[in-house]
This record gives sequence, C-alpha cells and structure tokens, in this order.
Amino acid sequence: MGRAGGSLAERRCCHASAEGMSECSKRDAMEPMDGDRKASVNVVALSGSLRANSSNTALLVASQRLAPPGLVIERYHGIADLPHFNPDLASELFARDGSIRAEGWNERHPGYAAVRELNARVRAADGVLIACPEYARGVPGAFKNALDWLVGGDGFVNKPFTLFNASPRASHAQDALRVTLETMSGCFAEEAALAVPLLNRDLDASDIVADEAIADRIRRALVAFSGFIAEWRVEAGVYADNPR
Ligand SMILES: Cc1cc2nc3c(=O)[nH]c(=O)nc-3n(C[C@H](O)[C@H](O)[C@H](O)COP(=O)(O)O)c2cc1C
Repeated sequence: MGRAGGSLAERRCCHASAEGMSECSKRDAMEPMDGDRKASVNVVALSGSLRANSSNTALLVASQRLAPPGLVIERYHGIADLPHFNPDLASELFARDGSIRAEGWNERHPGYAAVRELNARVRAADGVLIACPEYARGVPGAFKNALDWLVGGDGFVNKPFTLFNASPRASHAQDALRVTLETMSGCFAEEAALAVPLLNRDLDASDIVADEAIADRIRRALVAFSGFIAEWRVEAGVYADNPR
C-alpha cells in the first residue's frame, strides 16, 4: 500500500488519538459482530445522482458485479426519499449519543424511514463507496442533504470510505466530498479512489463490465478498498478474532 509511518487510524481518521485509535474505534471494538460479517467485507454504495441513466449509478452497479470474492456491495436507494435536513427534526430522531431513537417523528414526516435506513445501513457497513457527479463545481444538493443526515447520527463516524467518479474533469465535487466526509470523521481510502471517463458515453453497467480496461481498474480499486478495510479492522480491533 506504500504507507508512511504511523498506524492507519492515525494517518486516515480525523479524530485519532495519540495512541493511534480514536474513541470511536474503541467504541466499535467493544461491539459484538456476527459470524457473517467476519467472513466478508460489507460495503454500502451511495450514488450522488438521481438520474435514471446515471453514469455514476452505472459505475456502482458495475462495481457490484466486479467485486472480488469476500467483498459484498449493496446499494442504498433512498436518497430521493430523504426530507430536507433540519436540525430540529434530527434532534427528534437522534439521541444525544448519535444513536437513532426507536420512536420519533415518523407520523408527521414520511421521510423518517429513509433517514432511519440510511443511518442504519451506513452504520452496519464496513465501508462506504460513493460515486457522485459534479453540479456547478460542487456536490449535488440532494446528495449533500443525505450527508447532512449522516452528520446527525453516529453511523459514519470512523467509517472507511472511498470515492468513485464517472467524470475525471469533475474534481471540484470530489475535493469537496473528501473535505466533508473527513470532517464527518470518515477514513478516506485514497488508494482505492477511482475516476473513469464515462461522461456522455451512454454506457450502462453491463457495458462497463464488458470494457476490459475499465473493468480492470474497477477491480483493482475494489481490491484496494477491501485491503484498506481489512487493515482498518485489525488496527481498530473491530473483531474478536483480530485483536490489537
Ligand atoms: C445542473 C448540472 C450542473 C453541472 N455542473 C457541472 C460542473 O460544474 N462540472 C462538471 O464537470 N460537470 C457538470 N455537470 C455535468 C455532470 O457532472 C455530468 O452530466 C455527469 O455525468 C452527471 O452524472 P450522472 O451521469 O451520474 O447523472 C453538470 C450537470 C448538471 C445537470
């Protein structure tokens, strides 16, 4: 991985302590994990585009099909269903410690289920894979809204993430995403980040999988992301069979 000195947690995570593991890692380390999660790396994929024929979504679907053994990628589909983020609503939904309340404002706000699922899915995942377009040199509003909902809870804290990009020229949004996600205490797997030229090519997921050059780059990036997460698991002491 070509790493500099220091533990992964020290180098990647925003709130790592001097001991090399954040308070959040210590919290996660104490939580029991089931047998299935030990056997595989589970990643939740978020597309920043709501377009039906989105190249970023196609990139994620192709990634699901190209994932190496042991890496399971599942997509979250509820971004369009999320209500506009409002701290007043968030304080009704999330407890002070960031956990989601069992009961909240679901009757008044039908977007409750989407918020709850987003937080639960991200919290349960070992990592988050994001592919997001650039709008007006920034992150699309609908996707930033989703990230704001993750700030309200504790689901993203200390979570490994990487960024796929269907348009290499779209660097402003990627830079902004990285800043936002690291501010949210995520751990960026930079070696797994990928930008592939899909803009205006009208390729669907099957076309992407069939393109050997692009498919090979996706596979390599996914292997790198799996490796980053595996290393992170050991360093954070997440699993009982991988003690620090
Ligand atoms: C409202 C809007 C603003 C855009 N602004 C930019 C931009 O600032 N920079 C850029 O590189 N592309 C920009 N684009 C192009 C999109 O990034 C491009 O269409 C991308 O492929 C959309 O991703 P998708 O196929 O996943 O929907 C813009 C597109 C739209 C619809």
